[in-house]
Amino acid sequence: MKTLLLNNISDTKKNIKEWKKNGQTIGLVPTMGALHAGHASLIKKAKETCDKVVVSVFVNPIQFGPNEDYDKYPRTIEKDLKICEELGVNIVFAPSPNEMYGNGVKLSDTELTFVCPPYNLIDCMCGKSRPGHFDGVATVVLKLFNIVQPDFAFFGQKDAQQLFILKRMVHDLNLDLTIVPCPIVREKDGLALSSRNTYLSDEERKTALTISKSLNQIKILYNQGIKDTKKLFDAAISILDKSLELEYLEFRNADTFEDVQEINGTTLVAIAAKCGKTRLIDNEII
Ligand code: PAF
Repeated sequence: MKTLLLNNISDTKKNIKEWKKNGQTIGLVPTMGALHAGHASLIKKAKETCDKVVVSVFVNPIQFGPNEDYDKYPRTIEKDLKICEELGVNIVFAPSPNEMYGNGVKLSDTELTFVCPPYNLIDCMCGKSRPGHFDGVATVVLKLFNIVQPDFAFFGQKDAQQLFILKRMVHDLNLDLTIVPCPIVREKDGLALSSRNTYLSDEERKTALTISKSLNQIKILYNQGIKDTKKLFDAAISILDKSLELEYLEFRNADTFEDVQEINGTTLVAIAAKCGKTRLIDNEII
């Protein structure tokens, strides 16, 4: 089966309409491309769950801040298409920024309708250092949902805050689809897969490994009975390579996203750190 590469909205909608007419279920895997085994796991899950699978490949300008890596973000559409083909994806939807936002959209465009996630979900973790990021994510994802009209949409647990916000958007805006969270995929040595790992030098990669190691240490100590997040925080810090620039290490209730001092339920432990110029995130649920 050939994967159809489409870059315009109306052709994509035409195909979707046909599938819907035939009563087929549709799965959407939204990505920014540079696909790796983490994305492949989302696509495989989508293939198991749905009759038809659409992968969107779109480096979304409105979710990048002015000093972030929008321009240098890896764009590997030929390789992505090949991966999608091998995994039996029906459509790769890869629009241009103009196709998504109209001619002349700029990163700082103020003439666009945005989705604003609730303040308590963006005033922490990645939202603090990336103002506007989650507005941009929620906006593009809602647009993708409206174009593709999926029954199921698949997102990685690695972007835990994004996942929480998107689930909340689906609930709050009464969207008729199910979000399917998928587990983090790691390298053998524990490094969480990310398209941004390609920025790391060999030396930086070694340093970056201490991020997953520190989360693992928290898990070990928690399983030994330590529930005080201050103690867990200190233990993690002692493992993190000193050359990493820690942005946050937070403990959040996995159901409510509230800040946790003493762990007494399922808890998200999330971390962001800069390794050289590369910003990396990772998390564990304990
Ligand atoms: O997680 C990502 O790759 C992006 O934030 C997403 C969900 C595709 C929106 O651009």
